[in-house]
Amino acid sequence: MHTLLRPIHRRIWNNDALRARNLMRFAQTEAAGGHDLVRAAEMTADATLRRLFMFHAKDEHHHADLFRRRGAAILRTLQTRAHREAGGEWMAPGERGFDDLHVHDGGDAALLAFLHLSEKSAASEFAFYRDVLTADCATRAVFEEVLDDERFHMNYTLAQLTRIAPRRRRWVLWRARLSRLWKGYLRVALAIGGLVSGVALILIYAVAAAPFALAAKAAERREKLGWQTIGDPSASAMTRQY
Ligand SMILES: [Fe+2]
Ligand SMILES: [Fe+2]
Repeated sequence: MHTLLRPIHRRIWNNDALRARNLMRFAQTEAAGGHDLVRAAEMTADATLRRLFMFHAKDEHHHADLFRRRGAAILRTLQTRAHREAGGEWMAPGERGFDDLHVHDGGDAALLAFLHLSEKSAASEFAFYRDVLTADCATRAVFEEVLDDERFHMNYTLAQLTRIAPRRRRWVLWRARLSRLWKGYLRVALAIGGLVSGVALILIYAVAAAPFALAAKAAERREKLGWQTIGDPSASAMTRQY
């Protein structure tokens, strides 16, 4: 999939405005992940997991900071350039961030499985973005730094899942995979549903409004131009109110 999408991602990531927008979006996702991990640390009864979740939350807040600072630096150069060049609309669709955590669903094992898959997916995505980024060494360096941490997160979550649920590990991982697949399906279905309903509304509007538009055009053609005499109004003035 990545190979097929490489040209599109190369264009997106080598466009300053889209890159800044994506980095700001990643910053939000990382910060939200950090908050969820603090909540997970508060809720777990396992002392080792509590310490690891707090450590993990600190990493995610650091990532949010890195992405935000780099995104802001790019935006500053864009604004300077916009003043010089007068114009430059930079809003465009960006990339999806990795999924938010759901701390309350299914206890520590389910959370660790979900975290492991999210971190694995994030590591793979960030490695891909780093590879397609050819023109911006500073952003590449940010992805390099974040990637090291994501690999650590991916490994510790699997190791801890093995520690706390050695027999259920495979099953918990499969359940988390299915849950991610289902969420992915819902995202695609929602997007397709939005598209189909948009097209249907346009068609309904065209079919329902077209006869009225044609009748108005025909009436306009029948009208004479300029002021018109409408007869003697005094003849019927006393027989009706207006
Ligand atoms: Fe992260
Ligand atoms: Fe992470």
